[in-house]
Amino acid sequence: MAANILEIRDLVDVVSHHTIIDHLDFAIEEGELRVLVGPNGAGKTTLIDLITGRHRPTAGQILFKGERIDGRARHEIYRLGISRKFQVPTVYDNLTVFENMSIGLRGHRSVFSSLGYRITPAAAEQIERILAEINLLERARDEALTLSHGEKQWLEIGMVVASDPQLLLLDEPTTGMTREETNATARLIRDIAKTRSVMVVEHDMSFVRQIARTITVLHQGGKLAEGSVRDVENNPRVAEVYLGKAKISAAS
Ligand SMILES: Nc1ncnc2c1ncn2[C@@H]1O[C@H](COP(=O)(O)OP(=O)(O)OP(=O)(O)O)[C@@H](O)[C@H]1O
Ligand SMILES: [Mg+2]
Repeated sequence: MAANILEIRDLVDVVSHHTIIDHLDFAIEEGELRVLVGPNGAGKTTLIDLITGRHRPTAGQILFKGERIDGRARHEIYRLGISRKFQVPTVYDNLTVFENMSIGLRGHRSVFSSLGYRITPAAAEQIERILAEINLLERARDEALTLSHGEKQWLEIGMVVASDPQLLLLDEPTTGMTREETNATARLIRDIAKTRSVMVVEHDMSFVRQIARTITVLHQGGKLAEGSVRDVENNPRVAEVYLGKAKISAAS
């Protein structure tokens, strides 16, 4: 059995007397592509904030490759090899697609220094390879503000890939995408996951079915269910949580 790249032990996060993450135990194996689902407010984004050091947990442990990372600084966790894509794309609108990618390559912290920095031919080649993968090679010289919402999502995924992480955390990567763009994103994520560990937060079940091996269902900050797509879709507790929300097909 593969080792765990990420392990979360008895994690608790309390914000203004509200328990957002409630004694959560959770692990992702090395090389795994995991999907995290759950109704609005379940704590999915908060969990990513805690893993990436944007926010400190109240209690519990987060281990990356067996090493404690909870409470560490954001840049330190990033340097260890964990990168995230935000729920709302955070690309730099007035920079070109290529320039945005060069920031991804150098890391978000060095936005100004990376603009003055001359990209080596090897780095430019790597950016072009990733741009081809995310279908944006033709748009390399265009300002990011000319991209559609779906294309911005791809650009941000590309920036995350360019930072060469071992674990990618993608928060709702298909929001605002057409069905065709969503299908292309499923292919893209399956490709990325061939060489890295990936956790994807997603609501769109037809997308989830295209990529998922194991799904974890988060509800009120705790783990409600975990298993294959079929297990989760047939789980009556999951159906109950989603009932009336029609966001997971188990409810229908
Ligand atoms: N800074 C904060 N202060 C107070 N409450 C917060 C804060 N951040 C998040 N919350 C609350 O924490 C809960 C979990 O929010 P979170 O954004 O993690 O949910 P989510 O599962 O990502 O939801 P969605 O599917 O809508 O993105 C929500 O009830 C939210 O209102
Ligand atoms: Mg969220």
